[in-house]
Amino acid sequence: MNDYASSFDGANVLITGGLGFIGSTLARRLVELGARITLVDSLIPIYGGNLRNIAAIEDCVRVNIADVRDEHSMNYLVQEQNFLFNLAGQTSHLDSMRDPYTDLEINCRSQLSILEACRKQNPRLKLVYASTRQIYGKPDYLPVDERHLLHPVDVNGVNKMAGEWYHILYNNVYGIRACALRLTNTYGPRMRVKDARQTFLGICRDFNYVDDVVMALLVAAADPVAAGQIFNLGSDETINLRDLAALMVEVNGAGHFDMVPFPTDRKAIDIGDYYADYRLIQGRLGWRPKVALREGLRRTLAFYRAEREHYW
Ligand SMILES: NC(=O)c1ccc[n+]([C@@H]2O[C@H](COP(=O)([O-])OP(=O)(O)OC[C@H]3O[C@@H](n4cnc5c(N)ncnc54)[C@H](O)[C@@H]3O)[C@@H](O)[C@H]2O)c1
Repeated sequence: MNDYASSFDGANVLITGGLGFIGSTLARRLVELGARITLVDSLIPIYGGNLRNIAAIEDCVRVNIADVRDEHSMNYLVQEQNFLFNLAGQTSHLDSMRDPYTDLEINCRSQLSILEACRKQNPRLKLVYASTRQIYGKPDYLPVDERHLLHPVDVNGVNKMAGEWYHILYNNVYGIRACALRLTNTYGPRMRVKDARQTFLGICRDFNYVDDVVMALLVAAADPVAAGQIFNLGSDETINLRDLAALMVEVNGAGHFDMVPFPTDRKAIDIGDYYADYRLIQGRLGWRPKVALREGLRRTLAFYRAEREHYW
């Protein structure tokens, strides 16, 4: 893995969606690395942003409550930045079906306008986009590698696919160094748990602890090899839903779960079993996940036990 840490010492870093689950965990790590950080987030209540996510680092980051749909704000915010981690998104698959135009505005149109802001104001910055395994749709084969066809099964997947490809296109045509990571199910402290908007449904899935995802984002931003590339993230451990529930009860030392019929609205857009082949990022950038599921769940449960009043 490259010596990513030195790339961020004293660097100006912008994180869209910076008050969300992954964005705020990334900000915490970047504070340790000595970056000058600006978080932009709309804090729309139904999304995952939460000011509690930056507790204890609030004096080390600049927070700009703005919407990535606002081109004027983005034109201003990208200036002087060395890195942009583009994580703002509407993440609910069901909401994207009920309200497709909002998803289109945030996950597609805004991505284009953010890239236009970079092209006009700061074409020298480096960009990492948080894409998703959702764009593969129901897998044709497992594990899914980056050559797998893209055939998303919901509006969110179509728009995230477009958002991803705008980044690659701006890299290829305008030389704005951008890459995309296709995240799989990411879990850990600060994920949204108050509703079922951010969750997984398949029978067999792979999981990444959030610190491993943050590591991948940093390594991808720092390594010139990543420009124009798309990488899957993934894990060596796959687990089915029932065993995951049983493992959570075991790690927690208490609790129970019920088996209920699969809700029909979710079934219609579920991608079924999924796990990724992440050998490309392992080979090119040296990334691999380090936190085992049991340990990640233990840390996550401990976090919510202490912090529950801020997350429900
Ligand atoms: N968590 C996962 O399992 C997962 C999997 C695949 C991809 N991703 C992608 O990673 C990114 C981060 O996801 P997360 O899990 O941290 O979700 P999250 O909901 O916790 O974070 C997203 C943040 O974006 C902000 N946001 C939404 N719309 C905005 C707008 N119009 N303007 C400004 N801010 C806005 C939200 O307020 C929130 O803080 C998303 O783009 C998501 O699609 C996440």
